[in-house]
Amino acid sequence: MSQRSCLSVILAAGEGTRMKSAMPKVLHAIAGLPMMAHVVKAAEAAGATGVVLVIGHGADEMRKAVQKFAPKAETFVQEKRLGTAHAVLAAREAISKGYDDILVMFGDTPLIDAQALAAARQKLAEGAAVAVIGFRPPSPAGYGRLIEKSGHLIAIREEKDCSDEEKKIGFCNAGMMAVTGKHALRLLDKVGTKNAKGEFYLTDIVEIAGAEGLDVVATEESFESALGINNRAELAEAEAIWQARRRREAMLSGVTLIAPETVYFSHDTEIGTDTIVEPNVWFGPGVKIASGAKIRAFSHIEGATIASNCDVGPFARLRPGADLRNKAKVGNFCEVKQATIEEGAKVNHLTYIGDARVGAAANIGAGTITCNYDGYSKFFTDIGEGAFVGSNSSLVAPVSIGKGGYIASGSVITESVPDDALAFGRARQKTIPGKGKELRERLASAAAARKKAAAE
Ligand code: UD1
Ligand code: MG
Repeated sequence: MSQRSCLSVILAAGEGTRMKSAMPKVLHAIAGLPMMAHVVKAAEAAGATGVVLVIGHGADEMRKAVQKFAPKAETFVQEKRLGTAHAVLAAREAISKGYDDILVMFGDTPLIDAQALAAARQKLAEGAAVAVIGFRPPSPAGYGRLIEKSGHLIAIREEKDCSDEEKKIGFCNAGMMAVTGKHALRLLDKVGTKNAKGEFYLTDIVEIAGAEGLDVVATEESFESALGINNRAELAEAEAIWQARRRREAMLSGVTLIAPETVYFSHDTEIGTDTIVEPNVWFGPGVKIASGAKIRAFSHIEGATIASNCDVGPFARLRPGADLRNKAKVGNFCEVKQATIEEGAKVNHLTYIGDARVGAAANIGAGTITCNYDGYSKFFTDIGEGAFVGSNSSLVAPVSIGKGGYIASGSVITESVPDDALAFGRARQKTIPGKGKELRERLASAAAARKKAAAE
């Protein structure tokens, strides 16, 4: 089958009114990736050699998103929404290039998997002219019903056009289908508008192909993978299904999730074997974790690279550009942004490290802050190998601390510190014997005098 060329035509011209959103429906994200990009990925994984998106509502915004998330895809505009067959024909130019298979998909059906699409394409390879992806939803209301006769699909009837008898059929049209390229345009051009909605229905090509004596079949997929999204409740449902699949995949690939239902992955999270993820961890986009890491509870991680055997959290925040090398530690209430924490370095408590390098085996004390921003520009802090930064220090960038440098607690460091130097950046302590007692007595008698005056 892999030798057959395939064009995926993804319909995404709809408004998605029920999302109640200024943004086109198919740009709403699942696992941080717009729905339409999930659909494009599935099409590519099913062997699509060309991908086309039919857009309409919010065309400019759609084009930008396609450029960013699916740059290989071409867009065609459907000016008026006259039905699903009409929408497919908006891509006539691409279809007429002569592909073996045309895979029609919906931009709002993000959980469709490559196997379901490949199964439909397989039917074409075996000689069918059209293969429709069917499913059995808990309630068939609202879906087109698949009418079969001795293993062949003879018609798809939209709910509004169904007889009472046909409405009882539970096997429904998921919306997606594979059509052989050599027949596609001819079949689509024969579609009319004689139906309750007066639209050009893609589903009509089933009867049209049958009348030409061509073979039409249905495949069956799970309800989950054919779930169409119309509102934000369904969006959340799809997110939950996606996350459940991904968690399972992670666990089966050797990652321990102690409370899987509380860990959220991004569409692109990479996580190595023997990593342990404690409860309530959020992975935003762009996270890569090698093996043997420990990600402790309530950590929020995005755009970060975490090498082997690192220890992160609890309550750590790793932001884009955080680069933790082997055995680095970033502990509770620490934030790291655009910074490298080299091998074995420790940033354990209540610290902000931004635009910086923390050298191998350096130790950053509690409450250390890299002051990287003056309100206009960002500056770099370089901390050498084996340096020790005492608690509650402010490192005012640009500044560097040499290898083995030692910073006294509570310092405000504004000048670079050479290798192996000790730097104090704070006022010297003054201790006056007996002065504490004297002060306390003075304060007590003043308070007593005020109290007496108030009573008179
Ligand atoms: C469609 C199917 C129905 C199936 C259901 C599954 C048809 C005629 N009906 O119905 O059998 O059970 O999906 O969810 O195909 N679109 C356009 N331009 C248009 C019309 C639609 O781009 O002119 C796009 C929509 O944005 C959407 C997709 O096509 O992504 C499906 O359209 P929709 O109106 O949701 O079709 P349904 O009535 O749900
Ligand atoms: Mg729909």
